[in-house]
Amino acid sequence: MDAGQRKGDFLAVVASNRRIGDTFWKLRLDFAGEAADAFRTFRPGQFVQLDAAGAPLPPAEQIPEALRDTAERQVMLRRPFSFTDLDVQKRKTVGEILYCVVGPATLRMTMLRPGDGIAVIGPLGNGFWVPEGKRTALLAVGGMGTAPLQHLARHLAYDHKEIEATVFAGARTTRALPFERKQDEISQGLGFALPEFSRYGMESFIATDDGTAGFHGFVTDCVRKWLDENHPKPENTIVYTCGPEVMLAAMAKLAAERRIDCQVSMERRMACGIGVCQSCAVECRVPGTGETMYRMCCKDGPVFDAREVVFGTE
Ligand SMILES: Cc1cc2nc3c(=O)[nH]c(=O)nc-3n(C[C@H](O)[C@H](O)[C@H](O)COP(=O)(O)OP(=O)(O)OC[C@H]3O[C@@H](n4cnc5c(N)ncnc54)[C@H](O)[C@@H]3O)c2cc1C
Ligand code: FES
Repeated sequence: MDAGQRKGDFLAVVASNRRIGDTFWKLRLDFAGEAADAFRTFRPGQFVQLDAAGAPLPPAEQIPEALRDTAERQVMLRRPFSFTDLDVQKRKTVGEILYCVVGPATLRMTMLRPGDGIAVIGPLGNGFWVPEGKRTALLAVGGMGTAPLQHLARHLAYDHKEIEATVFAGARTTRALPFERKQDEISQGLGFALPEFSRYGMESFIATDDGTAGFHGFVTDCVRKWLDENHPKPENTIVYTCGPEVMLAAMAKLAAERRIDCQVSMERRMACGIGVCQSCAVECRVPGTGETMYRMCCKDGPVFDAREVVFGTE
């Protein structure tokens, strides 16, 4: 967490909650008073712990077949979410969460209505940072990994105008891309701009494993192709990435081969979210020793220098 940043347990008020795809929703939360001040400095890649336990389940016919067995499970723990956007206004701070419905908590979140109150702990963890001297940023997104990278895109566009950023967004197939653009427009598109990033003047490329949109293959291969064609200076370049761990590992390997700095946003199941319960361990290298140690994703991360992390695939 940033020095001087104050976290707390706050009550947010739902401003809107709308479906943007098969399983994707956007929730906007208003923070007022002390909460508005606390979230004003929320950095891209930080997260909140949201308490969805009080929200009701959707009616049975609205629960997807795949989630019927788990839907009734009690939601004991708060759930971690990043912000895709942060709007700091005079009297309030608005945080936007893009979420995918995967289980009991996210199912309940779909029932939140404007005006509902919801308890949120934050800001938590350490977000992305911008090292001195960078001029080129590559934002490599895997599926829902787009959430913190959309917030980062805004930060780079407003606060780091010296950096030119390009976005690479990958998913298994077109329908798994968590963007607002209509699905059939996506499947027609080859290298078109994603509005979520073009609004900041950033070029974006799509990659799908099955070739239903954009580059046919893994997003890491799309980044590799771009690097081969564009030859950015390694010392001036940085890769920011968020997505499934296997993709993060591949991205970290590619960046290391090209001597490019890389920051990865790691995901772990979390309980406390504040470094107490030790449930979110990430194995990390101890520089200069050949040894490793466990660091906590919630407190030391979720964003790490990719060189530090020992990925599950190694
Ligand atoms: C730092 C951080 C930021 C996150 N930001 C977002 C976000 O912006 N948008 C979003 O949709 N989701 C985000 N997530 C994931 C989100 O927290 C989970 O999807 C959510 O907790 C699911 O709750 P549930 O009760 O609906 O489903 P659960 O029943 O808890 O989970 C459903 C399935 O997803 C798997 N799963 C859940 N959480 C994780 C995890 N952390 N790592 C690996 N597998 C997991 C479970 O094993 C299970 O198979 C983030 C996670 C972390 C750690
Ligand atoms: S979630 Fe408890 S230590 Fe990280």
